[in-house]
Amino acid sequence: MRIVVDINNKTADLGDLYGVFFEDINHAADGGLYAELVRNRSFEFNTIDKDGYHALTAWNVQIPDGAIGSISVQDSHPYCLENPHYLVIDATEPAVGIGVVNEGFGEGIYIEAGKRYIFSCYAACDGRPLRFEVSLRSADGTMYEKKVFLISNSEWECFRAEFVSPVTNTSARLGLRLVSAGRIYIDMVSLFPEDTFLNRQNGLRKDIAEMIADLHPKFMRFPGGCLVHDGSLNENDRDSMYRWKKTLGPIEKRPARRNNWGYNQTLGLGYFEFFQFCEDIGAKPLPVLPGGWDPHHKRAVPVSMIKEWIDDALDLIEFANGDIDTEWGKKRADLGHPEPFFLEYIGIGNEEVGEEFFERYTYFHEAIRKKYPEIKIINTAGPCAGGIAYEMGWESAEKHGSDLIDEHYYQAPEWFIANHHHYDNYNGRTTKVFLGEYASKDDTWYNALVEASYMIGLEKNAESVGLVCYAPLLCHTDYINWKPDMILYDNNRVFGTPSYYVQKLFMHNQGEQELTVSINTDIENEVIESKLGKKIYLAPGIRGRDCVMECSDIRILTKEGEITCPNAVIRAEDEPLFLGEADEDYTVRFVMKRTSGIFGISLRFACADKNNFRKIEL
Ligand code: AHR
Repeated sequence: MRIVVDINNKTADLGDLYGVFFEDINHAADGGLYAELVRNRSFEFNTIDKDGYHALTAWNVQIPDGAIGSISVQDSHPYCLENPHYLVIDATEPAVGIGVVNEGFGEGIYIEAGKRYIFSCYAACDGRPLRFEVSLRSADGTMYEKKVFLISNSEWECFRAEFVSPVTNTSARLGLRLVSAGRIYIDMVSLFPEDTFLNRQNGLRKDIAEMIADLHPKFMRFPGGCLVHDGSLNENDRDSMYRWKKTLGPIEKRPARRNNWGYNQTLGLGYFEFFQFCEDIGAKPLPVLPGGWDPHHKRAVPVSMIKEWIDDALDLIEFANGDIDTEWGKKRADLGHPEPFFLEYIGIGNEEVGEEFFERYTYFHEAIRKKYPEIKIINTAGPCAGGIAYEMGWESAEKHGSDLIDEHYYQAPEWFIANHHHYDNYNGRTTKVFLGEYASKDDTWYNALVEASYMIGLEKNAESVGLVCYAPLLCHTDYINWKPDMILYDNNRVFGTPSYYVQKLFMHNQGEQELTVSINTDIENEVIESKLGKKIYLAPGIRGRDCVMECSDIRILTKEGEITCPNAVIRAEDEPLFLGEADEDYTVRFVMKRTSGIFGISLRFACADKNNFRKIEL
């Protein structure tokens, strides 16, 4: 075997090639990257989000023996209209206290000995001064630490306290209880570890954020795929499409919503936090907005009303990059970030199937191009590496001059092996590929290996493939919507799958010089010692999918002399090729070279009987 490596002096500029894709799937935000420890903190869980949810999901009601009172959730005098539900505790006779206990996400609330936790809530009373207790406790009721508040205001008021946990417990609880007779109203109950990623307020869970940061991604696509465009067209509906403006500002003003992955989403991790995180980890932000079309329910914004949706895109660019004297630049500054976020990319739509989308894309594209010619606009190519949506997407992208087009595919490992050269023929296209979602199906080392081999093909084609990100990024192991995922966690541990480490390897080691490697596999004087007969066949190996072997200089040396055969091209799916006839004692010589495909490089010989092959594995 001869391996030839040519240094062809071609430098490869991989640009922003490798990034990550954040979607709130598998509880990637609430219960995951977003560090909030209280589940259903504003009592907004609803059957619209998920069958079986109710306003007290994750809260256990505690009315002890001897107490008289009730617990309810109401919405007539909310602190915030955006999240109208709040808890009401009525105590006629409180005994040791009437209240509720929050069970957190997964196994419970994770607290660590010596660490500080910040509690906050809004509360009001009925006019009578009340004592109200908040506690960190175990699942079986052992009290670790308690804070007591005196409430006398009938207007909503914010209460805060700090806990320093005396213990480490992976399944702790947060308790709230009224210990005076009277009525209390409570909303937006929050418990955050002080120790968030870079100590930011309303921040991110440190260990998960660090796993992402350690990858050194060049960009982050957010806030999701299907999550973005699945929903109603009315932004005030609970299950509206994802509208980024709803995710800014005080958390109590961000309306909790139905996440299309079957749970409630608080939006506590919103666009400002996404931009901030991108900046913190040195990744370029890559937001994706709905294009006025929901392919899941086939709902389209009438073209006459599309302006509002286009304004969302234009305003987002202004929010990210605008001067502080612009409307949206000022909003960014008011949130504490006067400097721009340097947005370069914007995606419109996700995996869109349907002409309705491409009709609307035109308006988005033209408006963004006109106002912000420097922004790179990303079109979409549907959910597969081929098919009608893919073709419509590419046609639209080339027609409009989209800078990139978002391709998605989840395939068996063998697909990635067989398609190593997938992008070899994309040269010369004006639109670059954004491979915004891909993974080989499963999370073994073998999947990671084939992804690595595929990524080499992507790098080789970096002139055509501009951006790439594996999907999904995060998964809480108690709330799995989708497999495989890159980073797995529960409420206190985090792990990378083998694919995570391949992604990290490639993100840390981007090639700068292209080496051409050709492997010439020469086999000579191969002797077939067979007594079986005279007919000689050459056949492809059984694992040679997508593999093409060229066999040249084939000669059969017999006692009577030499038989020369024509050169042969053997494809994986070919029938055995008849070479010639010979005596029982012969030698076959040939030179063989793989010309396409990888793996499964094998050829077989047969003498006389096509079913009796001698296999040569290389
Ligand atoms: O990555 C999971 C989902 O797969 C995305 O939401 C969607 O775009 C795709 O179908």
